[in-house]
Formats: sequence, C-alpha cells, structure tokens
Amino acid sequence: MDYKTLLDTARENNGPYCKACLVCNGRACKNTMPGPGAKGVGDTAIRNYDAWKKIRVNMDTLNANTIPDTTLELFGRTFKYPIFAGPVGAVNLHYGDKLNDVQYNAILVKACADAGIAAFTGDGTNPEVMKAAASAIEKCNGAGIPTVKPWDQETLKEKFALVKASQSFAVAMDIDAAGLPFLQNLNPPAGSKTVEEMAEIIKAAGKPFIVKGIMTVAGALKAKEAGAAAIVVSNHGGRVQDQCPATAEVLPEIVEALKGSDLKILVDGGIRDGVDVFKALAMGADAVIIARPYVTAVYGGAEEGVKFFTEKLGKELQDTMKMCGVSKLSEITEAQIRY
Ligand SMILES: Cc1cc2nc3c(=O)[nH]c(=O)nc-3n(C[C@H](O)[C@H](O)[C@H](O)COP(=O)(O)O)c2cc1C
Repeated sequence: MDYKTLLDTARENNGPYCKACLVCNGRACKNTMPGPGAKGVGDTAIRNYDAWKKIRVNMDTLNANTIPDTTLELFGRTFKYPIFAGPVGAVNLHYGDKLNDVQYNAILVKACADAGIAAFTGDGTNPEVMKAAASAIEKCNGAGIPTVKPWDQETLKEKFALVKASQSFAVAMDIDAAGLPFLQNLNPPAGSKTVEEMAEIIKAAGKPFIVKGIMTVAGALKAKEAGAAAIVVSNHGGRVQDQCPATAEVLPEIVEALKGSDLKILVDGGIRDGVDVFKALAMGADAVIIARPYVTAVYGGAEEGVKFFTEKLGKELQDTMKMCGVSKLSEITEAQIRY
C-alpha cells in the first residue's frame, strides 16, 4: 500500500463531501456540515492546520547515532507512539453510507490496537453505537477509549456500565459536544456541565477520565478541579463553535497553567504528520489525537489502511526525533522548535 492508493480508494468510498485530499487542511470541505467540515464560516479547522505549520523544528544531527524510542506510557499502558485515533461519530452521515458507526469503530479499534496505539470511539443518539464500540474495545483487551457525550446523569449511568464492561484503560467525554447542532434539545438531554456535576460524573466513571474539548486555561483548571486524569486541548475540529483560535495557539498557555500537576495533556486539530506530533510534544503535550485522516485511512484501506497510516506517522515522528537529536519522548522540549 502507498498513501496515494489509500487516498484514491477513500475518494471512491467516502461519499460526496470529503475529497480525501493529499493534505487534510480543512480547505476543500471548509464549512461542509453534514460532511467533515467546520461550523459557520468554517475556518477553524483551517486555522488548526495552519498554526502547526507556522511552527518549525530545529535540526541538530551532531548526536549519537541511535534509533529514537517513540513509546508512550499512559495510565499503566505502553503504546508504540504518542498518537491516538480520534473519535468520529455518524460516519454514514458525514462520509457516505459505505460504513456505519458500528462497522467503522470495529475496523478502527482493532487496527489501532494491532498497530500498537489505541482509538477513541464516538457516541451518538443510537445506543447500539456505544454498545458495539464497548464490545470492540473489550475484544482488544481494553485498548480503546470510549468517548461519551455529555448526557444527563441517568443516561451516563447506562453508558458507564458499557464502559466498565469494555475494560477500557480510560474513558473520555467530549464536553464541547454541547455545541453540536444535533445535541441541542435532545432526548435524553445533553449539554454542558458544572464542575460539581463533572466531579460526580468522573467519580461514577471509575477509571482515568479524559475531558475532551478544552480551549482555555479556565477550562483546564476546572477539569483538573473536577478530578480529570487528562484533558484534550481541542475545538472539535471547528465543528462545535465557529471562529475559535487554533489548538496550537492556546496549547502553550494551558501547558503553563498546568505545570506541576499530573494532569495529562492531549491535543488535536489539524495534526497531520509525525513532524506535527513532534511539535505538539515539544510544546508540552503528552500525546496527540488525529481524527479526520484516520477516517480516510479506514475508507481507503480498512485495517490495512489504518496500520499503514499509523506506521507512516510513527516513522515521520521517529525521523524527526533523530534529526533533532532526541532519543526518547521525554527529551522533546521547546528547545527543538521555533515559533
Ligand atoms: C465527522 C466528524 C465527526 C466527529 N465526531 C466526534 C465525536 O463523536 N466525538 C468527539 O469527541 N469528537 C468528534 N469529532 C471531533 C474529532 O474527534 C476531533 O476532535 C476533530 O476532528 C479535530 O481533529 P482532526 O483535525 O485531526 O480531525 C468529529 C469530527 C468529525 C470530522
């Protein structure tokens, strides 16, 4: 497999909206929703991508000639790369009916686990999606992260029973889904949470809890106060609120505010290659999430596509570490990037 073949196949399979672009930079799909685009003006996903590309890496090859170690330890598990596949829901609506969420998650979760990383799975109004995702994760020894929507406490209880059965090593909530058009006025009800409500939810979840959709220092500190184990600095790829800053713009101040705490920091939004992964880690993230390109990998090559794409990213990260004189992830610092 090569990347061009993967993209050509994805283009045949993925419906009318996604163009499976060589560079997934948010431009061709801009404000296409339904579709993989962004809300309103639709420039937030573009801004996410552009912000990473403004940051450059500092080469230094006067170093020992060793193979850099890319492994990540997180919540008691070891991953081959500090990269996770992002949660994507309603794939049939946004990427055509070749796959539904159940089929999509089954492919993604297994392929990511086989590739030595893990996938986040999405959640939606159809309860079968979460059930199937939990079962797919359970089959992979818990190597996956179910992502629940910010439902009411009653519905969350049912979701957490599934999460528990999945034996997943962590659970996430996309708290910013409060801004998704389809979640408004929904039954069961969903929406934003107070710190107290979030603390209760985190306690009920009973495993490392990841709050996804943090874009401010205030939000990060509230997630910490509620007892989160990790946050994802994310604007949901521009899909929940128009005209947000890029995640790379807000990451440094959030990292600074959380210095000294053991809260883990993940980031997503426009991270497209191993060099971007390196930059995110240099800015203080512990790991990254990549979402839309993994959809393309599934539509373009199913399990093989996901494994191929993961290895591509991993190799790019490893090459960049080598070229910047870094032998393990903990050695990646701001000294290796230029703003
Ligand atoms: C079609 C589509 C569906 C998504 N569904 C979910 C979801 O169900 N839960 C969630 O937390 N994020 C969801 N996201 C957001 C992604 O997980 C991710 O935060 C965002 O796309 C930014 O990453 P990217 O630029 O690598 O795509 C979705 C994104 C897209 C494009």
